[in-house]
Amino acid sequence: MKGILLAGGSGTRLYPMARGISKHLMPIYDKPMVYYPLATLMGAGINEILIITTAEDRAAFERLLGDGAQFGCRFEYAVQAQPNGIAEAFVVGEEFIGDDAVALILGDNLFYGDDFGGVARPDGGVVFAYPVADARRYGVVEFDAGQQVLGIEEKPVEPRSNFAVVGLYFYDNDVVEIAKALTPSPRGEVEITDVNREYLRRGKLRAEKVAQGAVWLDTGTIESLADASDFVRVLENRTGLKVGCVEEVAWRQGFISDDDLRLLAEPLRNSGYGEYLLALLDRPSMVRR
Ligand code: G1P
Repeated sequence: MKGILLAGGSGTRLYPMARGISKHLMPIYDKPMVYYPLATLMGAGINEILIITTAEDRAAFERLLGDGAQFGCRFEYAVQAQPNGIAEAFVVGEEFIGDDAVALILGDNLFYGDDFGGVARPDGGVVFAYPVADARRYGVVEFDAGQQVLGIEEKPVEPRSNFAVVGLYFYDNDVVEIAKALTPSPRGEVEITDVNREYLRRGKLRAEKVAQGAVWLDTGTIESLADASDFVRVLENRTGLKVGCVEEVAWRQGFISDDDLRLLAEPLRNSGYGEYLLALLDRPSMVRR
């Protein structure tokens, strides 16, 4: 299964901050925002990942993440020229996807406490739902009593449930054809919600609730960016364990060896980040669960 990380867009909701730098490279406490969704894809067992950026920001992402070999992964890069919508990721990524299944994650979504490991190669589409205080900002899924999907709407004025569709989606290969056939919504974007509605129409959409107690944050506004930083700071300082640590995830997934992790840690020691990675090796008792 392949992965796509969508880190395009202009980030106007974070202006003036996002004027000179992609919002996805901004810090969420102790690491760049893009680390969190990247760690989520890798934690789901995916190590072939296409990173979609704007033309201007591509070089900065490549400088940060390279070809992925250091994480035992293969990263490719592609450009979304205009912010034409999330579903365009499957058109931009058509060649990369080939005839494989694909997971898409939005570059400003942060997940904690659910490893999404069980979805490999879905027949159809799989989305995840999470309760939010204000569902009007999101795709919203309505369930029947048996937890089957009744409908999905994008940013409804009157949401039919309090369950937002999170920015992590798993699809079979049909997603490429489905995305290519879409027409833009009134906001001028090809909507991921329209992809999901097409799977629903075909009777091939499953919606699961994010694990009880797990956390989903999006980080695309000034308030939510600050909230996410606070969340990570509090959790990391309390537990002594990092969130969204791609080096650790690569190692725990067996993508890289102990020696590889030591090499990654060395240039990161001044910030304390490298010390954390070394402690993983030197204190085998430091476990997650
Ligand atoms: C997008 C999707 C929406 C989804 C949300 C998750 O919204 O269109 O369905 O719930 O991401 O972050 P946007 O970021 O484009 O407002």
